[in-house]
Amino acid sequence: VRQLMKQRRPPGFPPGPSPIPVIGNIMSLATEPHVFLKKQSEIHGQIFSLDLGGILTVVLTGYDCIRECLYNQGDVFADRPSLPLFQKMTKMGGLLNCKYGKGWMEHRKLACNSFRYFGSGQRQFERKISEECMFFVDAIDEHKGKPFNPKHLVTNAVSNITNLIIFGQRFTYDDRNFQHMIEIFSENVELAVSGWALLYNAFPWIEYVPFGKHQKLFRNAAEVYDFLLEVINGFSQGRVPHAPRHYVDAYLDELEQNKVEPGSSFSQENLIYSVGELIIAGTETTTNTLRWAMLYMTLYPNIQERVHREIDSVLENGRAPTLEDKQKMPYVEAVLHEILRFCNIVPLGIFRATSQEAKVNGYTIPKGTMVITNLYSVHMDEKYWTDPGVFSPQRFLDSNGNFVKREAFLPFSMGKRCCLGEQLARMEMFLFFTTLLQRFHLQFPPGTVPTVTPKLGMTLQPQPYSICAVRRQQKS
Ligand code: HEM
Repeated sequence: VRQLMKQRRPPGFPPGPSPIPVIGNIMSLATEPHVFLKKQSEIHGQIFSLDLGGILTVVLTGYDCIRECLYNQGDVFADRPSLPLFQKMTKMGGLLNCKYGKGWMEHRKLACNSFRYFGSGQRQFERKISEECMFFVDAIDEHKGKPFNPKHLVTNAVSNITNLIIFGQRFTYDDRNFQHMIEIFSENVELAVSGWALLYNAFPWIEYVPFGKHQKLFRNAAEVYDFLLEVINGFSQGRVPHAPRHYVDAYLDELEQNKVEPGSSFSQENLIYSVGELIIAGTETTTNTLRWAMLYMTLYPNIQERVHREIDSVLENGRAPTLEDKQKMPYVEAVLHEILRFCNIVPLGIFRATSQEAKVNGYTIPKGTMVITNLYSVHMDEKYWTDPGVFSPQRFLDSNGNFVKREAFLPFSMGKRCCLGEQLARMEMFLFFTTLLQRFHLQFPPGTVPTVTPKLGMTLQPQPYSICAVRRQQKS
């Protein structure tokens, strides 16, 4: 009976599909949820509700509606839902999943400052990314144009940029322990939205059911935690207080300060959670973007050729790209933007919650309600895009071939909880992509054409594919 009571929508709540008793609309998230939810919005409106096994959830659709909530009412929509799974994983602490309040503010500020101080604010940081780009293309060269799956190399190379900020060091491409950690962590990103995880959130007692994917998720999380604890201890050796070398040192300074002025949210546990979140948020997303980019360049040889032409004309005599070259490469910029729009790396954003009662479009949403932002629906919004279902970098160029920003483009979301790694991700994508295509022509192994159907999870990634990276002769 309690379950049924919880299912009832409160007065003024947005409408939605009728729930099946007990499990509600959980099944609606089973296959391509972002596509399904967009279709549902055509029936129920831009703002509608779902019952996820007793957890009433509001879904926001389209650019106007998402902007109204995340931007115009930034504070109101800045919380994260206290789902049993998140409570178990990070006790609603850390950074990415932290409740909206002092703890989140302290962690976000420290992370942003560290990203600036140890990252983009340092003159030699760009050189370090370029160095990683070289390790990356050299490792690809070892395949000598033969088919290989680029997933692990891209993951390693991309995560090393975040590693520089967090630990002050990169991990070599043969570091099996680090690779294993990333692998099971990223498996958890997939499992976090699997049917089992949704069921766990609705019925936390299934924790005691000894089989099921939720058990795998818990085991992985425990293993990642132990690995990070060890690595953090290693990298904090030789620390000099108030002379931080990286994010971990900066965090430990705050932690010590905490002993003098108690009451802050910095703790050993939150250090481990936030390090884990920064690593996975930075790696999974940027890696998937680059893997999609490689796949689409191979699928559209004429687009790849135009990228090659632009790269060759700007980077004379095959010199390495720098961030300054970005303004001179509007076509590369357009391609990367269209990949982010079309491939929808984080299709439903990261679940939000209302921090107080919200009023939107005449509806009333109580405090603490879970909110899903359908970012995919923004990128497919017919009001802002013509033929949104067509892959066309051209839409980011004006008639003179200059790059143009588009409003309904939210791969990094918006508002208080927007992606804090956007700037870093943009640097990485540009430098990795141009370095890669400067050196190679990408093509499928003869007789194969991989599918573009994504693998489902919190993030969308291509199904594993093999590719041939053939060294090109540069025309200058
Ligand atoms: C949050 C996308 C790269 C760190 C987010 C969110 C999205 C997103 C959609 C959810 C924001 C919300 O709640 O509405 C992306 C994409 C990336 C990328 C598409 C690459 C192409 C990165 C990188 C880092 C990072 C490189 C750091 C190394 C974070 C963190 C959050 C976040 C910490 C949580 C922010 C908070 O809760 O305050 N990202 N991201 N992301 N991202 Fe990214």
